[in-house]
Amino acid sequence: MTNSCVVIPCTFMFPNGARTHHGVNSIWYFGQPYPQLFPPVVFKSRTDVVHESYKGRTKLLGDLNQRNCTLLINNVGTEHSGKYYFRADLGGANIYTYPDFSELKVLEQPNIDVPEEILSDENLELTCYAPDNCPEMTPEIQWLFTDYLPDPEFTSEYTEESNTAVLSNTLSFTPRPMHNGQLLGCRVFYPNTTLAYERHITLDVKYGPRSVWVNVSSEVMEGSSVTLHCEVNSNPAARISWMFGEQELLWDTAANVSLALDDMSAAQEGVYTCVGDNGYGAMNASLYLSIKFPPREPVVNSSLTVLEGSTLALHCSTQGSPAPTLTWLKDGELVGTIVADELSVLEVFEVTPQGAGQYRCLAENEHGRASSSLNVTVEYGPMLLDESKCTVVREGVQCVCMAVGNPEPTIEFHLPDLNVTINQTDGRYNYYTHTDGHTSTAMIKLREKGDRNGGAAVNVHCSMSNLYGTHSVLLELQQESTSGDTLRTQQLLSVCHSV
Ligand SMILES: *[C@@H]1O[C@H](CO)[C@@H](O)[C@H](O)[C@H]1NC(C)=O
Ligand SMILES: *[C@@H]1O[C@H](CO)[C@@H](O)[C@H](O)[C@H]1NC(C)=O
Ligand SMILES: *[C@@H]1O[C@H](CO)[C@@H](O)[C@H](O)[C@H]1NC(C)=O
Ligand SMILES: *[C@@H]1O[C@H](CO)[C@@H](O)[C@H](O)[C@H]1NC(C)=O
Ligand SMILES: *[C@@H]1O[C@H](CO)[C@@H](O)[C@H](O)[C@H]1NC(C)=O
Ligand SMILES: *[C@@H]1O[C@H](CO)[C@@H](O)[C@H](O)[C@H]1NC(C)=O
Ligand SMILES: *[C@@H]1O[C@H](CO)[C@@H](O)[C@H](O)[C@H]1NC(C)=O
Ligand SMILES: *[C@@H]1O[C@H](CO)[C@@H](O)[C@H](O)[C@H]1NC(C)=O
Ligand SMILES: *[C@@H]1O[C@H](CO)[C@@H](O)[C@H](O)[C@H]1NC(C)=O
Repeated sequence: MTNSCVVIPCTFMFPNGARTHHGVNSIWYFGQPYPQLFPPVVFKSRTDVVHESYKGRTKLLGDLNQRNCTLLINNVGTEHSGKYYFRADLGGANIYTYPDFSELKVLEQPNIDVPEEILSDENLELTCYAPDNCPEMTPEIQWLFTDYLPDPEFTSEYTEESNTAVLSNTLSFTPRPMHNGQLLGCRVFYPNTTLAYERHITLDVKYGPRSVWVNVSSEVMEGSSVTLHCEVNSNPAARISWMFGEQELLWDTAANVSLALDDMSAAQEGVYTCVGDNGYGAMNASLYLSIKFPPREPVVNSSLTVLEGSTLALHCSTQGSPAPTLTWLKDGELVGTIVADELSVLEVFEVTPQGAGQYRCLAENEHGRASSSLNVTVEYGPMLLDESKCTVVREGVQCVCMAVGNPEPTIEFHLPDLNVTINQTDGRYNYYTHTDGHTSTAMIKLREKGDRNGGAAVNVHCSMSNLYGTHSVLLELQQESTSGDTLRTQQLLSVCHSV
């Protein structure tokens, strides 16, 4: 360690006969063994002329006569690191240069052995070393910043190898993810001196993802934008990927990854999963995005025409989120039940003519409403209306026949007694028809003629017909007053007779 001392153990050999009576002298060189190259002189037994940087620092501890060349260097600095060569001068021409050397390393900081990879939850051993080659001072080793380590253990060891001694202290504990980035230190000091040395290391604890944070499940409106965040706690940073079903939407190697989704559509509803994987482990977290949208325009049957008495099933289907309620309205009035379902079926049993109209299916949710309609047309055979009758009027008898039906009925009057059918084309009668929607009205006037000696009574039949049937009724002659009855009847009879 810098500023401490070091003893370089040394012994040397020479042939016994080479020894002279002058005694043995020695030189220690730095860097080179050959005097011709003028290497710095570390120590010289004959004089104290040494290289500047070794002045007052070196002392030969060994007894040269015992072939012991052990050298002490005091107050070493890093500049003294290097190779040291011994040269023995036995007098005369017997000067020996030895190729062997001792290499000195002067440390400013202790060395710490750190495994190449530190894994979480696996026992870790860190060893700090201090050289112990200065006889005047004995080092001690201390670990620093170990207060928060779980059950740290310290083991001291002393090893001596090829005349150099090393003191070591091994710290062992089981690191956890929380210890990643933690500072640890080793301090080497010599008691009763001011000399102390420290080395700090930062723990790089590898661990698979410990947590994956994603947003909570949420609801978003169709067409809007959302940003989903994912944060993974791992070391090293994980490959973070955002998955939608089997599809990988985005990935990056980072501590967090944001997924931006624009113009959300209903098809993007579902589970979004963020997966973190760093080779030491994998973990994932999911959320559900539901897409809200107003009801789509409902799909209903197309307009239809049915025969009276048939049974109909009208279908209405739509989509919306949340699920819309479906309501059937007929001509603006609520019919059927309100359902909260994708499909509503309105059943109309044995439809009557009144069942015809506009059927509207209305879909509603909190985001809006939409509707579609269809028209139902009901067809039916002709039916006589109560207004149908014959009345006696001044000019004769007037018969009115009114009938409903779909398609609208055609009306004919029959005078069976006279063996004639009166319809529009028959110009001989004062005949008139009118249709209004499904109602047909026909009227004839039978004029009074002079002949009062009429024969049999004339019956007026009204015949109405359409695609679905023909119907014939005898029209009642309504009396205006009791007094006029006979006369009117007579008049009618005479009219009919004259016809
Ligand atoms: C050489 O001298 C040193 C210092 O006196 C001594 O500690 C060491 O034991 C000696 N070596 C041998 C091999 O005698
Ligand atoms: C340090 O000094 C104290 C008293 O001066 C002495 O008792 C102790 O043994 C010394 N320690 C060492 C390691 O020299
Ligand atoms: C997700 O979380 C981030 C950070 O808290 C936030 O900014 C973002 O709006 C959240 N996204 C959703 C859809 O909630
Ligand atoms: C996401 O990671 C980046 C670096 O990768 C960091 O700067 C940023 O603060 C992180 N954001 C969040 C919300 O953690
Ligand atoms: C998420 O983790 C679970 C449980 O570890 C695993 O079964 C699943 O396959 C993972 N999902 C993805 C998409 O990696
Ligand atoms: C209405 O449409 C549905 C489905 O398309 C069909 O099953 C049903 O018979 C239709 N109803 C009528 C009265 O045509
Ligand atoms: C239904 O009838 C009404 C009026 O008769 C008409 O305005 C509307 O367009 C019709 N609807 C369909 C779907 O045919
Ligand atoms: C009506 O005419 C047919 C033949 O045209 C005839 O056979 C029938 O007898 C007539 N009926 C009356 C009541 O005159
Ligand atoms: C009118 O009556 C005549 C004779 O009964 C018949 O031939 C004709 O087709 C009828 N026309 C219409 C429009 O009903």
